[in-house]
Amino acid sequence: MRIGILNSGGDCPGLNAVIHGVVGAADQLGWEVIGFRDGFEGLLPPGDYTILKPKDTVGILKMGGTILGTTNKGHFAAKVGKGDIAEVPPEIVAKAKRTMEQLEISALVIVGGDGSLTTGLQLYREGWPIIGVPKTIDNDLHATAMTFGFDSAVNSVVDGLDRLQTTADSHKRVMVLEVMGRHAGWIALWGGIAGGASVVLLPEIPFSYEKVAEHIKARDAQGYHSTLVVVAEGACLPQGDIVSVDANCGGEVRLGGVGQVVAKRLEELTGKETRSCTLGHLQRGGAPTSLDRILGMRFGVMAVKLASEGDFGRMVSYQSYHVGSVPIQEAVNKLRLVEPDSELVQAARAVGICLGE
Ligand code: F6P
Repeated sequence: MRIGILNSGGDCPGLNAVIHGVVGAADQLGWEVIGFRDGFEGLLPPGDYTILKPKDTVGILKMGGTILGTTNKGHFAAKVGKGDIAEVPPEIVAKAKRTMEQLEISALVIVGGDGSLTTGLQLYREGWPIIGVPKTIDNDLHATAMTFGFDSAVNSVVDGLDRLQTTADSHKRVMVLEVMGRHAGWIALWGGIAGGASVVLLPEIPFSYEKVAEHIKARDAQGYHSTLVVVAEGACLPQGDIVSVDANCGGEVRLGGVGQVVAKRLEELTGKETRSCTLGHLQRGGAPTSLDRILGMRFGVMAVKLASEGDFGRMVSYQSYHVGSVPIQEAVNKLRLVEPDSELVQAARAVGICLGE
């Protein structure tokens, strides 16, 4: 028997841990693993793939990125947000299917986010033996309490804030750190809390510059002359501030440069020297944390279990400390956002973190 695996969409720390889990578990069953390169593109004839044996995965558990490569563009890119149909053209699906048949693949493990899993759902509905594994550093996929890569991203934010803290303290400055999170503020909120930020601005909670400025000035008056501000790249900026590109809230959102805009406004309103810094892809690269290594490995092992039971059309899922699975359609086309009244947000407020309202 042969099991195929591909990574699709943006890379994420822990992808290699999933591959490690799949290859190890498949080997125990006497199955061969075919790793397709560069996402779904590797399925296109003549097929771009490699046979993966346990010896090929030695040491990859601790490596960032993916040994298989990935892409978030190409022939299979799903039009997300248009219902749960991916709309990959039939001629492309037919070509890829030929590769699957020639290689006698009995199960295909797709490690991807919302878009890639939507493509997976389309293929499953067309009769393919698909198993999904959730992947996103943003941690905004539905039907799983956590995705691997998130913890590593949060740790990068914390490391960045720890570094910004010392320079902020030395200069009595406000430092604004822009982090990833187009639609969801999980990285900003977790990273901000753990990294000691006093202000966290999210896509889910509209904010006012005046409120944030008051908070910073009040801190100053209390003798705290430096302030760390974390802003998600998709933060819900006040109306009329800048051009809307991807609004998912009442305000306006712009991707990239959000940190700079926020820093400029806060400097004007507080009179305090303010600098901004964008963490960018530093939070997606590098070695996965131990949590992400273990979660990724467990996801890979569960994917093989589902494949061996012929339980297709399902996505591996993490709920209540347990790795199980759900139908793929439960996970796609509806992002899991930070709830403004959740216990986590209330806890952040309770320790004095300003969310800008
Ligand atoms: O979806 C994951 C993500 O990391 C987002 O947070 C970010 O906006 C995006 O990917 C960046 O993608 P790219 O690598 O294409 O610039």
